Amino acid sequence: MAETGRTASADFVVVANRLPVDLERTADGSRRWTASPGGLVSALEPFLRSRKGAWVGWPGVPDVEVEEFDDDGLVLHPVSLTSDDVRDYYEGFSNATLWPLYHDVVARPVFERSWWESYVRVNRRFAEASAKVAAEGATVWIQDYQLQLVPAMLRELRPDLRIGFFLHIPFPPVELFMQMPWRTEIVRGLVGADLVGFHRPGGAQNFLWLARQLAGLESSRGAVGIRTRPGLMQVGDRTVRVGAFPISIDAIGLDKLSKTKGVAERAAQLRRDLGNPKKVLLGVDRLDYTKGIDLRLQALHELLHEGRVRPEDVTFVQLATPSRERVEHYQRMRGDIEQMVGRINGEFARVGRPVVHYLHQSVNRTELAAFFSAADVMVVTPLRDGMNLVCKEYVACRHDLGGALVLSEFAGAAAELTSALLVNPHDLDGVKNALETAITLDPAEGRRRMRAMRRQVLTHDVDRWARSFLQALGAELAD
Ligand code: ADP
Ligand code: F6P
Repeated sequence: MAETGRTASADFVVVANRLPVDLERTADGSRRWTASPGGLVSALEPFLRSRKGAWVGWPGVPDVEVEEFDDDGLVLHPVSLTSDDVRDYYEGFSNATLWPLYHDVVARPVFERSWWESYVRVNRRFAEASAKVAAEGATVWIQDYQLQLVPAMLRELRPDLRIGFFLHIPFPPVELFMQMPWRTEIVRGLVGADLVGFHRPGGAQNFLWLARQLAGLESSRGAVGIRTRPGLMQVGDRTVRVGAFPISIDAIGLDKLSKTKGVAERAAQLRRDLGNPKKVLLGVDRLDYTKGIDLRLQALHELLHEGRVRPEDVTFVQLATPSRERVEHYQRMRGDIEQMVGRINGEFARVGRPVVHYLHQSVNRTELAAFFSAADVMVVTPLRDGMNLVCKEYVACRHDLGGALVLSEFAGAAAELTSALLVNPHDLDGVKNALETAITLDPAEGRRRMRAMRRQVLTHDVDRWARSFLQALGAELAD
């Protein structure tokens, strides 16, 4: 990576809390860049790299100043956060207030005034950094819940820009959003954009209603479509569009990768290393309390107890990327999950044959594709998820039409992957039944379901998502 030594003037700028790469300080005091966690980066990075844009974001560690640099054609503009910013803006307001509030209050949101003040300050810093980077008349695409005030702040600084905003997490029901003490400020922040995008039409409609109620903004009342028929809102002399754009993955890239000899060999090796069980079950998530990792373990535990699943027949692999480790709720959940893993293995493992393999680690793309290829059952059970990319990645890797997907109805992806075994994650008996069905699924039925899901995923990839958003924004799309 080379420092560019210039203040760039970019025609297309993505602004996100994180850069696509995280700075890591190694034990010997040196620094290195690693891929950032999460679905936002997985989705946007391949799209942006092919277009040579600019990316404004935090390098992932506090109290460091990093110059802008060129990362393989993508110009990265680091925004520094102090330790206090990380505590109050990122861990506090973003991840202990907004995150639980927007995920249906599955944990209790904390409303803390000093965190809000920090959120305002840091959003202003991102707006100022973006204003410096963008060329005259550029398109600026702001991402996610950490930066909801940036659209209005940036518009004030740079009225010449075309500004889009996309929310990667669910937008909550209106009754829950109304709990937020700074609800009107957030709505006013978002309508600084020319286009506000959500995964689902329901989120867009909730937002239109709230903007009418809280900010007195006149808006259309017709149903919002998927990628079509955005809602329209009058904000002064501007018309703001509000639409639904379900995000996706680099499906063709993953399909290709999964067909390589290296991935096939690694998948076979993984099965051997696991002791060639009849069925491999897999979970892949950031270690987050919204993902329902605990309840899938509980379902497995009960199935083993009841003798509906035999420990010698199944192995469950849970890959869990470390996430937000200083936030209290995440610490508690990690403890609970590790206790459950220990309990299941304590009761049902034999020497050299654990039933649950739990890796609190990130793996690279090729290794992930091998895990997907090796898994007979993919278990995706969030209590709430804006979209969930993992289930789409699994489908993209199953060119052999093998495997079964157990998917929560409360993931945005459930509206698209209707041939999955859909479950209500609050209904433990339902989850157990679905797991048992997936383990014993008739192969012809499995192929039929997988074929239908692959048709959906391969024709609705991340490129289509980004293009549909940018077209609705009226941005010019260079190939
Ligand atoms: P979120 O954005 O909430 O983390 P998503 O399912 O939308 O959830 O995206 C998660 C992304 O992170 C996916 O691209 C997935 O492959 C990746 N990921 C999750 N866990 C791991 C892991 N242990 N190792 C490598 N990648 C992971
Ligand atoms: O959309 C989900 C999301 O919160 C992204 O905004 C974020 O990049 C990712 O998950 C990972 O979370 P974090 O950046 O807090 O590690």
